[in-house]
Amino acid sequence: MVLKAELHSHLEGTASPELVKRLAKRNSMSLPAELFKNDGTFKWTTFLEFLNAYDLASSVIKTPEDYRDVTYDYLRQCAEQGTIYAEVMSSPDHAAMAGMSYQNHLDGIVQGIEDAQSDFDIVGRLIVTCVRHLGPERSIEVAKQTVASPHPLVVGFGMGGDENAHHPSDFSTAFNTANESGLLCNVHAGEMAGPESVHAALDHLPVKRIGHGVRSIEDPNLVQRLIDQNITLEVCPGSNIALGVYPNFAEHPFLKLKEAGCKVTLSSDDPPFFHTTIGNEYRIAANHFSLSDNELTEITKISLENSFADQKTKDKLIARL
Ligand code: ADE
Ligand code: ZN
Repeated sequence: MVLKAELHSHLEGTASPELVKRLAKRNSMSLPAELFKNDGTFKWTTFLEFLNAYDLASSVIKTPEDYRDVTYDYLRQCAEQGTIYAEVMSSPDHAAMAGMSYQNHLDGIVQGIEDAQSDFDIVGRLIVTCVRHLGPERSIEVAKQTVASPHPLVVGFGMGGDENAHHPSDFSTAFNTANESGLLCNVHAGEMAGPESVHAALDHLPVKRIGHGVRSIEDPNLVQRLIDQNITLEVCPGSNIALGVYPNFAEHPFLKLKEAGCKVTLSSDDPPFFHTTIGNEYRIAANHFSLSDNELTEITKISLENSFADQKTKDKLIARL
C-alpha cells in the first residue's frame, strides 16, 4: 500500500453522520432533521449551506472526551488507509460555541492523538484555526489563546471559513501573533475566490502553505510566485468537485499546477461531507491524474517535508517511505 500523509483536514468536519448522532445522544441533544439526507449522509448544496451543516454537526462536540473520540476515530480511519502522518485543523470558535474552553478542546484532541499513535502507529499534529467570516477580533482572541497555552503537538495556526468575507490584511495581527510564537501558518485561499485572493494572502500573512490554492492556475504570475516563495498547496480534489469549484476531475488543475512546478499535496478536507477519505484522494490522483505509485509516494514525501512537524519527526517519517 502507498504510504500517505494528510495536511488538510478539519477535525470537526471529519466526524461521520453516525458519530455525530452518537455524540448528540450522549449529550442529550436533538439535531434538526434537515442536517441529514434520507440516505443518512450530511445534507447541503451550496458552500454556505455546507458551512452551516458543518456548524450544526460541530455543535454535538461538547466535551474533551467528545473531541478525543472524534480525533481518535478519524486517525484510526487514516491509519487503516496507510496514512503515517496527519495534520488536523481544529476550531476553538466551534468548541466555544459548544460551550468548551480552548484548554478543554486541546486536552481532548491531544488525548485522541496520543491514543491513536500508540494504537495505530500514526503521528498526528494540530493546526489551530480561526474562522474568516467570524472576523478579525475573534481571530486575535484565538491566536492569543493558542499562544498562551503552547503544546508540543500544536504546530500551526491557520484560517478557514468564507474566503469572500473580510480581507487577509484584517487577520495579520492574529497570524503574526501566532507566527512570532513559533507556529507555522497556512490559510484557505484560491478555493472560493480567484488568484487575487491568494496574492492578498501572500502579501499580508506569514504563510508557508495555502489551503487549496487551486485557482492560482488562472494567473501565471501567481504560479511563478508560489514557486519562488516555495509555497506548498494543500490540494483537496474531492472537496473541490463536491463544492463545485470544478465540474469534474478532467477540469481540475492538479496536474497543471504540478507540471508547472508547484508543490502539490493531497488531502481530504471534510471527508464525510464530501464523500471522500485520504485513501480516496490518492485513488482519485491515480485514476484521474494518472499518478503512479512512485509519484503518489513522492506526493507523500512532499507532504512530510512541508508539514509543520519538527525536523526530527519529519526525518523519521520520511525514512519510512
Ligand atoms: N471549513 C471547513 N471546510 C472548509 C473549506 N473547504 N473551505 C473553507 N472553510 C472550511
Ligand atoms: Zn479546508
